[in-house]
Amino acid sequence: MYTIDLKKIEKHHTPFYLYDLKLLRSTLATIKKEIEGTPFIVHYAIKANANPVILKEIREAGMGVDLVSGNEVRAALDAGFATSGMAFAGVGKADWEIELALDNELYCLNVESSQELEVINAIAASMGKTACIALRVNPNIDAHTHKFITTGTDDNKFGFHLSEIDEIIHKALRLPNIHLRGLHFHIGSQIMSLEPYKMLCYKINELLDHYEQQGIHFEMIDAGGGLGVDYENPEQNTIAAFHDFFGLFKRELKLRPGQTVHFELGRSIVAQCGTLISQVLYVKKSPHKRFVILDAGMTCLIRPALYGAHHKIVNLTSTSQELELCDVVGPICESSDVFAAGTLLPATKRGDWVAILTAGAYGESMASCYNMRSLPASHFIE
Ligand code: LLP
Repeated sequence: MYTIDLKKIEKHHTPFYLYDLKLLRSTLATIKKEIEGTPFIVHYAIKANANPVILKEIREAGMGVDLVSGNEVRAALDAGFATSGMAFAGVGKADWEIELALDNELYCLNVESSQELEVINAIAASMGKTACIALRVNPNIDAHTHKFITTGTDDNKFGFHLSEIDEIIHKALRLPNIHLRGLHFHIGSQIMSLEPYKMLCYKINELLDHYEQQGIHFEMIDAGGGLGVDYENPEQNTIAAFHDFFGLFKRELKLRPGQTVHFELGRSIVAQCGTLISQVLYVKKSPHKRFVILDAGMTCLIRPALYGAHHKIVNLTSTSQELELCDVVGPICESSDVFAAGTLLPATKRGDWVAILTAGAYGESMASCYNMRSLPASHFIE
């Protein structure tokens, strides 16, 4: 059961994100232990949460970063990450973002279209640089997750279709200001079954064999991110299934000597260490419903409104044994501003403190100022 000593936090104005740095550190230590002695390198996908305090912890744990915009590159530079551990992905990189990446000699740019490859080559030539790149392959593997966060099927805008990669690899090898490091994959997010990853390993092995026969060696493979977390029972599963996840890649990938494997994990690193803390503004009873109206809304955490995502909600104040059916909603002028419809909470009243769990990933980083709301603050506990 999620508990927090209210005395430690009640001085803060709600709503705010509360991060448990101890849990973040043990998550990072678990990952470190699982990849020890392997050629695996983890790049934290900072789109999941770019809070500077979180970034500092992750940098100190020795991880690289996966970046998807020029401003993320700047945030990673400000946080002191080494450029040799920076991978820059994204289907639409602007020229200034490519220049920034080349200027800082990032480890790798993940390229998603033929035209992008030509533009990177031209910009690199004009700067007198060689761009280190990986080509993003769309392996057509269904990750069996929400349709908005599936990325590796024929319907998605990401990467090169399998039928195109022969041509694009040869093109990359011909371009004078391109150094092709390897292939990049990312099949989706919040993936709870290892089966799609097994399919991905088979596909990678097949491609490595195929290109080896042509005398093409890749120094790296980027297997992407996507490992899921438990939103239903977060208190029981505070750390994601890293052992099974990395174990699968250790077992199934047939790597060539010297090859490194890169992972871009976001959610599984930060989701459970973050909680959105809010207070109940009003309890409104209508003939059909009981609405618990919070001071946090979809501007703080958009996942329920955008994906119908479930986040466990805990009343931190109520000691009542009596459960009440209610809709937990925010104050924003949108009908989709609902954290949970038809959920059971202990008898709840105005002023109660509420925790919305598993909010560390894609919570603060997707917050907005809609309705001219302030962005949520962040506080930390050890
Ligand atoms: N690499 C690439 C190329 C990605 O597109 C993503 C996430 C990641 C790595 C990190 O994936 P993760 O390990 O965090 O699953 N806002 C959505 C999730 C969007 C994920 C976008 N790409 C959500 O709140 O569920």
